[in-house]
Amino acid sequence: MPQIFPPNANAFVRWALIGGGLFVGLLAVALPIYARTVNNAVGVPVAQPVDFPHNLHTAQLGIDCRFCHTSVEVAASANVPATETCMGCHSQIRVGDPMLAGVAASWDSGLPLEWNRVHDMADYVYFDHSAHINNGVGCSTCHGRVDQMTEIWKEEPLTMGWCLECHRAPERFVRPRSEVFNMAYVPPADQLTLGAELVATYHIDSDALPQCSTCHR
Ligand code: HEC
Ligand code: HEC
Ligand code: HEC
Ligand code: HEC
Ligand code: HEC
Repeated sequence: MPQIFPPNANAFVRWALIGGGLFVGLLAVALPIYARTVNNAVGVPVAQPVDFPHNLHTAQLGIDCRFCHTSVEVAASANVPATETCMGCHSQIRVGDPMLAGVAASWDSGLPLEWNRVHDMADYVYFDHSAHINNGVGCSTCHGRVDQMTEIWKEEPLTMGWCLECHRAPERFVRPRSEVFNMAYVPPADQLTLGAELVATYHIDSDALPQCSTCHR
């Protein structure tokens, strides 16, 4: 057998393996910390100053998303509700409950609750909720089953590649406008036919969607 590796190759490989192992170990520790602090990772629930359960308030109590996220249909950004919105009910319901202590403290002090952001895209990307809501893109397509979540997590990566999957072929995802807030919506078997019809009906500009200037302006 010809000697392919020099005699010290074993030692090299051993050190490379140990080094690699250490590196993987470091990543295993560092990534979840990074995920929780700098950039919220997909699927990692984000803790909040008040444990506000979306599932209870939406699926069980039947409160519409727009009751709290009032600007989602009309503005680029969806708002998070003020303490006043909570107090509309919680000035009578569960008064004095420790789970609502943060809400009560905010109401008494007049200082807003400091909700932690779950989604936060880079500033060089332009995004507009109303453009999506009014063209038949459902909340659940981008945010998942919020109506089944207690703490919210990021369901999708929000990378450029992910945005483009739809911007290159919106007919794969677009639904009737009437279904945008339906969290349990399931696309029909003939989605591509329905989608193409809706893209035409809503005058969705398929040529402009994948262009750089749509999202970077
Ligand atoms: C009773 C008020 C209320 C209702 C109804 C409600 N939300 Fe929220 N939502 C909140 C509050 C408060 C927060 C901030 C705390 C949090 O993230 O859990 C929030 C946060 C969110 C976030 C994360 C925002 C971020 O930081 O990126 C999403 C997404 C969201 N809501 C979607 C929905 C959808 C979809 C519906 C309807 C199915 C809905 N919400 C209904 C109050 C509400
Ligand atoms: C339309 C009325 C309504 C609004 C608005 C509302 N809630 Fe509630 N909330 C309820 C009801 C009803 C319950 C359940 C009471 C029960 O089961 O005893 C509840 C329960 C809760 C609980 C206890 C959850 C648990 O697991 O026991 C928390 C915390 C809470 N709400 C926070 C909030 C916050 C924060 C807001 C504002 C962003 C808000 N609520 C807005 C009606 C409302
Ligand atoms: C096409 C994908 C998409 C759809 C559809 C969508 N969202 Fe979002 N949502 C996002 C992105 C992306 C962000 C982060 C925006 C940012 O960081 O500037 C976001 C952020 C949010 C926030 C945090 C506040 C903000 O605007 O940054 C809330 C609340 C929210 N969405 C609620 C909703 C609700 C309610 C619906 C349905 C009515 C909905 N979203 C539909 C992609 C979407
Ligand atoms: C599931 C499909 C889908 C996803 C995912 C999606 N979009 Fe869109 N987007 C659309 C549709 C449909 C329109 C409406 C096009 C029109 O009005 O002609 C649109 C429009 C836009 C517009 C134009 C708004 C305006 O006022 O002109 C911007 C900006 C945009 N999207 C950014 C994004 C970004 C950034 C992401 C990823 C974070 C994203 N979109 C993810 C389907 C999607
Ligand atoms: C549908 C929306 C959309 C379109 C269209 C789009 N981008 Fe992006 N772009 C994004 C988002 C979202 C990010 C942020 C990615 C992240 O944070 O991971 C991004 C990030 C970038 C970055 C930063 C580096 C990186 O890869 O993250 C560059 C450079 C870039 N885009 C260039 C372009 C160019 C050039 C085009 C046209 C060929 C384009 N983009 C079209 C949404 C878009």
